[in-house]
Amino acid sequence: MTASATRRGGRGARARRRLDARAGLDVEVDAAGNLIGTRGEARVWTGSHLDTVPNGGRYDGVLGVLAGIEAAERIDVPLGVVAFRDEERGFGGSLGLVRKPEVYLELHIEQGPVLLRAGRPLGVVSAIVGLARGEVTFEGAAGHAGTTPMEGRNDALVAAAEFVVKVRDAAHSIPGTVATVGELTVSPGAANVIPDRVTMSIDARAPDRERLDALVAAIGFMPQLYTEPAQMDDEVRAVLREHVGGPELVSGAGHDASVLAHRGVRCGMLFVRSGAGGISHSPDEFSEPPDIALAVDVLATTLARFGG
Ligand code: HGY
Ligand code: MN
Ligand code: MN
Repeated sequence: MTASATRRGGRGARARRRLDARAGLDVEVDAAGNLIGTRGEARVWTGSHLDTVPNGGRYDGVLGVLAGIEAAERIDVPLGVVAFRDEERGFGGSLGLVRKPEVYLELHIEQGPVLLRAGRPLGVVSAIVGLARGEVTFEGAAGHAGTTPMEGRNDALVAAAEFVVKVRDAAHSIPGTVATVGELTVSPGAANVIPDRVTMSIDARAPDRERLDALVAAIGFMPQLYTEPAQMDDEVRAVLREHVGGPELVSGAGHDASVLAHRGVRCGMLFVRSGAGGISHSPDEFSEPPDIALAVDVLATTLARFGG
């Protein structure tokens, strides 16, 4: 269960109140659980996600939702603002979205150190990495930790531990890729019992399809979630670049914009500098208020350009 299940009520309820009360949007929760506020014939949407990760930060996702509401309060054009459900565990909300915009523009923290090192408050995203996520289970034989000789043990956790190193080595072997084991469940889970079953998550990413498929093959797992790398829309990027200098960035984080781009929506993403060394998915996540204020200005201006 992600942290969103504990916080969704709070964040979701507050977002809903702001959507209809101050932003003057018609609010609905769609069949996929997305919170959507629209004004007029909203071809252009903005927003992000309200869910987060266990022990996450205060900016990932929610900043884009609040920025979208703020933009809706500032510009008087047809507009949609969406809070996607379940972005962190697998884009359940955006994959289940039935109403689709023509253009989707998302403001998000960078979640990395690139803008911080470059001394830039904002960045335009050129593309979003491809992502393959799945689970692998190791079956062993439970036994008494004290009376079972080391020879002949069938310890599921030892096999899993060797596989975790294999996952790491596979990513090292393919430049530009990353792979992570973030969840590990050990059964039966007692200090004096040899583990008989271990399940682990695998999260593998690459900037292009070739390297993503090579990484999945090198690790040797069957993805349950697979999103190809997604290019952001040329025109949206060009309009954003009018306000944001410097080179564009490839997003190493996955985003709902990737799902929408593959469904034919013209997408763009505006990154705001991550402070605190660029850390994210941590309570230390931070962005400077002046950077956020600048980002919201650019977001509102760009939405107005496309929304009229
Ligand atoms: O995992 C990700 O990249 C995103 O935070 N959902
Ligand atoms: Mn996010
Ligand atoms: Mn996240």
